[in-house]
Amino acid sequence: MKPRDPYIQIQDFYIAQTKFAAISVAIELGIFEAIRKPISLDELSSLMKMSPLILYALSRALESLQLVEFTHDKYFINHEYSQFLLSDSQFFQGKDFASRTNEKLHTRIKNALLKAEPSLNYAGVSLTKMWETGNIDSNTAAEFTEHMQTMMSYPSEVLSKNDTFQQVPELIDLGGGSGAWAMALQKNQPHISIAVFDLPAVLEKAKTNVDERLPGNRIKFHAGNFFESEIPRSKSYLLSNILHDWPLNKCDEIVSKIAKSSETGTLLFINECLLDEDRSSPSFTCFFNLLMAVNHGSQQFALTDLNELLLKNGFSSPTIVAECGYYQLTVSRKL
Ligand SMILES: C[S@@+](CC[C@H](N)C(=O)[O-])C[C@H]1O[C@@H](n2cnc3c(N)ncnc32)[C@H](O)[C@@H]1O
Repeated sequence: MKPRDPYIQIQDFYIAQTKFAAISVAIELGIFEAIRKPISLDELSSLMKMSPLILYALSRALESLQLVEFTHDKYFINHEYSQFLLSDSQFFQGKDFASRTNEKLHTRIKNALLKAEPSLNYAGVSLTKMWETGNIDSNTAAEFTEHMQTMMSYPSEVLSKNDTFQQVPELIDLGGGSGAWAMALQKNQPHISIAVFDLPAVLEKAKTNVDERLPGNRIKFHAGNFFESEIPRSKSYLLSNILHDWPLNKCDEIVSKIAKSSETGTLLFINECLLDEDRSSPSFTCFFNLLMAVNHGSQQFALTDLNELLLKNGFSSPTIVAECGYYQLTVSRKL
């Protein structure tokens, strides 16, 4: 058997439950039945009273599995799969999916589709709201930051070895969360003076995390809200898994804030899982995109989307300098 990249395998396992939930929601809400004949997504969303953003993300995710197809902007079920996904077929498999519809992720995707509101809540409060206002309680901050440490420890270790960091004397990791990137950079690029910028409650957790995992480190911390506070000046910045948390108008706010604190030549590193330009591959990223749409009303980017956002704010086109699993590290320069 051909060996697969173990990190890609792990990322695929991580997204597997989102794939299952997306299919079970499509079956429960009758989406496959509604696309027996080609229909545009606009028509489908008004017919089924569903959020266009979530329906678009779901459709592209299902397309990445080849269950559905797009031709001339019309959307329809793949003929080969219809025998398994349509309820009047003798080979219908939907009942097995339907028996698991009470699972959390299924309910969250379904609610986001029908109610069109971000659904990642902690104790009933939307995480996006807490982030936007900066009012995040210490339990939520600790729980989410722990999750980001787990998710980013490996890719940050691999990506931080990239040679582009050698030209960087200082770096601020904006929304740096657990400090996973800061620790990896401290180990692999010890010449860089590194600071983590994040909300105060998150930094409390980050400081303990960093002190436990890398005693004697020189990492600095700046508490602030990147929508409200000034962003400290630096010769380089990192945004890792930040832009995918926000709709495009908010991404624009963040990047224009960075541009204001930057001089010509300042480097902006962006770490995201990028979609291919066809928006229906890689499958992992299409489902990650669905998850972000459901969690925050946001999206994953294709390189052309990043390009547009950066050019608009006075940065050069992004160049991909390193990859790890489905993550791509890009760099651009303030013009
Ligand atoms: C998805 S996590 C990414 C964490 C880290 N960059 C990584 O890749 O592991 C988003 C981070 O953005 C931070 N964040 C969200 N809203 C913020 C705001 N308004 N100002 C500063 N940081 C914010 C969160 O606290 C969280 O640490």
